[in-house]
Amino acid sequence: MSELQVPFDHELVIARHGPRTGYRFVVAIHSTAGTEPRGRAGGGCRLARYADPLDGLHDALRLSEGMSRKAAIAGTRTGGAKCVIAVPPGEAPWPLEGERREAVLRDLAEIVDSLEGRYLTGPDVGTTPADMEFVHSLTPHAAGFAEGGTALGTAVGVHACMRAAAAQVLGNAGLAGVRVTIVGLGGVGEPLARRLAADGARLAVTDIDPSRRTVAADLGAEWIELDGAQRRECEIVAPCALGATLTQDEAAALRCRLVVGAANNQLAGDGVAAALAARGIAWVPDFVANAGGLLYAVTVGRDRRTREEAFERVERLGDTALEILRRAEAEGITTLDAAVRLADERLAGR
Ligand code: NAI
Repeated sequence: MSELQVPFDHELVIARHGPRTGYRFVVAIHSTAGTEPRGRAGGGCRLARYADPLDGLHDALRLSEGMSRKAAIAGTRTGGAKCVIAVPPGEAPWPLEGERREAVLRDLAEIVDSLEGRYLTGPDVGTTPADMEFVHSLTPHAAGFAEGGTALGTAVGVHACMRAAAAQVLGNAGLAGVRVTIVGLGGVGEPLARRLAADGARLAVTDIDPSRRTVAADLGAEWIELDGAQRRECEIVAPCALGATLTQDEAAALRCRLVVGAANNQLAGDGVAAALAARGIAWVPDFVANAGGLLYAVTVGRDRRTREEAFERVERLGDTALEILRRAEAEGITTLDAAVRLADERLAGR
């Protein structure tokens, strides 16, 4: 475990062993400020292997803070929470299936239920809408299974932010001819790539899963090596796989003007935001760029609005990205600071 550098002003954090599995479950409720209904915060449940369970705690603390910011930016009044289920390495087979997976989900339902509605869980990395449907059969405090399309909502939001940021930073009216590198061609990366291809962007793409090459071929995108993909010269880098890929070293080596992507917690540490700014690389904070999935799910699932209305709301994230970039420039602060200030102001109703 590296030195803990985590936010820790959470309203509630619980860590328990799953009664059936013995795995470590962490539920971190960062904030319920301004939530609707009152006192309940939402956030997905991450099921992942961790060599050190403290890393799972670390993730839960950071991700739940990110959810608070994302909800404030998106105006969803859903607060910020997250659950992490830390599975020890060597737990075979992986991913968990069958009875083992059911036991994990039963543990999750029991722990979520014990919080009496203060935490609403949902899918995240490692858990699926179908998992949440099962959890919902055991506790009412699970969502995100009937709505569908959160990955698409996220892709639409990233795309909107990218277009707005490109107009501001590159002075481009559209993305035709703009070189974009996408790392991660999954649920979000693929529909994002399809939109960018339709815009006429020049795409370079990669994924740890070589079967995703078919998507590249289909789109006429160049498939590039994973190693050093972010460092390749282009106008825009879109991290759409894992978090923490923007380290100080990467920030020093990037050869792009703009970073806009779906991955959560892209910065290995907050200090990387300043390193990017110092190099003149504009970064649209992840909790802004990827807020479309949450906004979509809340609009369709909780607010019972149509998909079209949801996508309209998601498109407006582009205006937010623009506001943040302009504010950072005007006030001489990083885009991270500008976005956090905006989130704080929106939470305070200013
Ligand atoms: P996904 O699991 O569908 O796709 C991720 C893709 O990244 C997969 O194709 C995987 O093979 C690839 N990948 C994994 N490790 C990699 C590596 N080291 N290098 C390159 N590629 C790698 O996930 P999804 O839904 O597309 O999400 C992508 C990112 O966006 C994640 O970080 C997720 O937390 C974040 N996000 C997703 C949202 C959603 O609505 N799906 C909402 C907000 C954030």
